[in-house]
Amino acid sequence: MRLLDVLTHKKCLTPPPIWMMRQAGRYLPEYKQVRKNYDDFMQFCFSQDDVVKVTLQPLQRFQLDAAIIFSDILVIPHVLGQRVWFEPDHGPKLEKVDFRKLLLNAGQVSLEQVLAPVADSIAKTRAQLDHTKALIGFSGAPWTLLTYMISNGKTADFNTVLDFAASNRELFAQLQSMLEEKVAELLCLHISAGANVVQIFESWAVAVPPPLRELYLYTPLRRIVGKVRTRYPGIPIIYYARGVSGDYVGLQDLDVAFGVDETVDIIDIRAQLSSSVLQGNLSPNKLLNGDFEEDLGRILSGMHGTPHIFNLGHGINKDTPISHVERMIDVVQNL
Ligand code: CP3
Repeated sequence: MRLLDVLTHKKCLTPPPIWMMRQAGRYLPEYKQVRKNYDDFMQFCFSQDDVVKVTLQPLQRFQLDAAIIFSDILVIPHVLGQRVWFEPDHGPKLEKVDFRKLLLNAGQVSLEQVLAPVADSIAKTRAQLDHTKALIGFSGAPWTLLTYMISNGKTADFNTVLDFAASNRELFAQLQSMLEEKVAELLCLHISAGANVVQIFESWAVAVPPPLRELYLYTPLRRIVGKVRTRYPGIPIIYYARGVSGDYVGLQDLDVAFGVDETVDIIDIRAQLSSSVLQGNLSPNKLLNGDFEEDLGRILSGMHGTPHIFNLGHGINKDTPISHVERMIDVVQNL
């Protein structure tokens, strides 16, 4: 598997392996066709055969090196008893809950049991996937999950969450450690079902002020990586934290690959991190509007001869024309 050659052996491949965040999604008409069968997005995430189908869709169309299991980071709050639903154009919504009750209940929730359909989808996907292609499992990280859980959905104002954390220190810490446990358990479940690599999404890292990042982001990350590696010592882990790639230098000892968002120059990050595997970072907006060849050329030439996985800096936009994706992949692979 080309992705594992880079992640595990730090090989420098030309062309670099390529996959896209949110590659299974609404820019694909065949995805929208399957999506129509479900009013409830969470039900779709537990649907098994349709999960396998949409996970494989992008690989049937494009020459990608990996599939990412179709699921969502919000599966965790959902199975912990905080209902999650999606309203068109409003993003995710989460029910208001009593977090003390949720914590009491969390001990009783066995992810292995409630997520058996997800494990089954992963095993079926792995069995159907070409042996040269990697299967990626994933989880949201505790802080990002807590932003959704505390603000009852997508928030533009992280002060609510920061205030909650500051004024309920003990409760917040308990929620963090419960989530560290669940996130590690979810990643292990994905690995034991057949994922070859896992990615940890800390999509709202940028909302944490620098003095609080150790406490809210990196201590939980270290614990999660430790727990997962105790069970699966060799498993490759990609850490994708939006807006904080300057901090990656201090996380090198974790031996994880780093996902780089589009707000920074990945070549600068490479200069700071000489030996880490880096993933990224074409702007999804440039891919959307089609004016991306200059950036693409710069990324490919600047990262040439270093352990690099080509990806977007964030998830693909749902209005991206398929022809743009085809052109991007063609440029990467015919370097
Ligand atoms: O990448 C993939 O193809 C695998 C599947 C995947 C989804 N969500 C499917 C999905 C992955 C890896 C995610 C991660 C995820 N989900 C993150 C972290 C990555 C990031 O984008 O920062 C976050 C923050 C979420 C929460 C979430 N779920 C959001 C913000 C949305 C979009 C809501 C909207 O209406 O735009 C979702 C829904 C979702 N998850 C969709 C998909 C394909 C689209 C919803 C649909 O099909 O109706």
